[in-house]
Amino acid sequence: MTEVNVINIKVPFQDQKPGTSGLRKSTLRFQEEHYLEIFIEAIFKSLKDLQGSTLIVGGDGRYGNLEAIKKIIQICVAHKVGKVIIPKNGLLSTPATSNLIRKEEAIGGIILSASHNPGGINGDFGVKLNISNGGPAPESITNQIFQCSQSLKSYKISKIKVPDLDKFGVFSFGLTSVEIIDGLKGYSDLMENIFDLDQISDFLKKDFSLIFDAMHAVTGPYAKKIFVEKMGLANDCVMNGVPLEDFGGLHPDPNLTYASNLADLLLLQKSYSFGAACDGDGDRNMILGKGCFVNPSDSLAVVTANTNCVPGYKDGITGVARSMPTSSAVDCVATTLNIPCYETPTGWKFFGNLLDSNLITICGEESFGTGSSHVREKDGLWAVLYWLQILAVKNCSVSELIQNHWRQYGRNYYSRHDYEAIPSTIANEIFNNLTSKLPSLKGNKFAGNLVKVADNFSYTDPVDKSISKNQGVRIILEDNSRVILRLSGTGTKGSTLRLYFEKFASSQENLALNPQVALKTLIDDLDHLLNITKLTKMENPSVIT
Ligand code: G1P
Ligand code: ZN
Repeated sequence: MTEVNVINIKVPFQDQKPGTSGLRKSTLRFQEEHYLEIFIEAIFKSLKDLQGSTLIVGGDGRYGNLEAIKKIIQICVAHKVGKVIIPKNGLLSTPATSNLIRKEEAIGGIILSASHNPGGINGDFGVKLNISNGGPAPESITNQIFQCSQSLKSYKISKIKVPDLDKFGVFSFGLTSVEIIDGLKGYSDLMENIFDLDQISDFLKKDFSLIFDAMHAVTGPYAKKIFVEKMGLANDCVMNGVPLEDFGGLHPDPNLTYASNLADLLLLQKSYSFGAACDGDGDRNMILGKGCFVNPSDSLAVVTANTNCVPGYKDGITGVARSMPTSSAVDCVATTLNIPCYETPTGWKFFGNLLDSNLITICGEESFGTGSSHVREKDGLWAVLYWLQILAVKNCSVSELIQNHWRQYGRNYYSRHDYEAIPSTIANEIFNNLTSKLPSLKGNKFAGNLVKVADNFSYTDPVDKSISKNQGVRIILEDNSRVILRLSGTGTKGSTLRLYFEKFASSQENLALNPQVALKTLIDDLDHLLNITKLTKMENPSVIT
């Protein structure tokens, strides 16, 4: 056991307001002296019983990951954390972190990632605390961390020499042991328990080609372990499979804009039967078929409707939940299954209590997030395997599966328009303008329909009764069409405005329209109401989903 010296370092005030998922800032900001350390100290102050407990620390491999882990180990030693578990090379996906926290009965985990934001010295970095249930810390705790970071005068650190993280091993420093483990095993074992990997592999080997895009981020090694090692597929079914500090210059957000190479392979060249991608830290997923893009809201509905295909859910599910801006496609399935469907604010942390109380088994967001009670995070590779399992059982293509789904439940035409990194003054002007118009909208016509609800969404957690206000402005029409407007809580440059549009078509109507066409009146009327094109000086949104 190495003796340790603890030193107290005085720090200046720093503004560290966390957003939708933890503290996310530019890499350069995080490189400033003490910036990371202050936030970690504030996190540790929020954790009762930290001394002697187990903590998981890992990240998505972006620039600054290893250096940050080393500093956190030094702070853990100073705080007498009992055991710090680190994955080899510091690489741990967000769902794998959630699993490890639960398996090791850890007090929590620290995830070093800015998720789908670009990495590298000119990109972003982030820190997120997950608590002992494996899920993101709820607002009560993140608020406390923020308050603490505002008044912090010093932090404790022990400048021990931290071992390299490229070999397995156990090291002791004072009262702390540092364990470097295999970050892939626990997660891939979990997937093996939920899915019938042999059945999926047989299906894929017959005549159903797969391409998975890891976007040079954390899921590359996991995908190789599962698809290549466990399922015996060829190595080249994983593209961009080597994690890189700057994601090879890619923007690791699996959508049609940023994963356009993959999208071209499936939608234009039609070279594969199935394509999927995950984001920087492995919690998001995009599903594509030959000539077919699956909207994430539809994906959640399909996943919910087909639990009987997946061994891990054969006994049924208790309920489902979706974030407010996610389309109501899953609600239609829940009605048929006669199970409850909850509507929560944006952000995975709001699913935690519902999952812990077993009120829901499956949940998802329109932002390419799908997950279940197997962990407390959305889970990209889980969603990919889930889709493959349904296709293997039904022996059909992605487009057959989705079209059959619409034929049974109707189609919720849906689209999200993002205006990224616009000046905050403009974003606030648009947002405040809509807010001020809400009282006059109600009872009047919008897009040819009577406005039923015009408000700012507020949520009361059914379990702890906590109230979260101002979670997005929504206009709901009499035919249940919806228009929603939110300001992003994860962007780091200027402000990002998100507009969401939804319109239901019953199974007797035309289900084959392009969503932008089906939603045109809603899109145009919102622009007339708020002058978004003019104020942003953008002909089109930066990203259309
Ligand atoms: C975005 C998504 C949201 C998701 C979050 C973290 O947050 O919209 O659904 O939970 O990223 O992945 P936003 O930038 O909209 O606040
Ligand atoms: Zn992510």
